[in-house]
Amino acid sequence: EMNWTDALAAADLPGDDVIGVAVAGRDIAVYTVGDEIYATDNLCTHGNARLCDGFLEGHEIECPLHQGKFDVRNGQPTCSPVTQALRSYPVKIEAGRVFVQVD
Ligand code: FES
Repeated sequence: EMNWTDALAAADLPGDDVIGVAVAGRDIAVYTVGDEIYATDNLCTHGNARLCDGFLEGHEIECPLHQGKFDVRNGQPTCSPVTQALRSYPVKIEAGRVFVQVD
């Protein structure tokens, strides 16, 4: 069963950037890349850093702490020192709101 949770207004999405949002008690990073939107866990899998404080370039988010990188489309690590994938979540826009499927 799909369980979509309202995360934020689409108008509040940053352009080609990342924002941290609390969704159903989870810390989620929402990314925009052109017209596309992605969502992953916000906490880096390598340490205590939030990816919303990092640097998004194309489909890659760079962690602010040790500069590890992940592909925001699927959470896969793309640059050391990160080795463990981020959980990624389905995301959609409907009626001007951004919804994330967290469960
Ligand atoms: Fe993110 Fe180390 S905490 S790369």
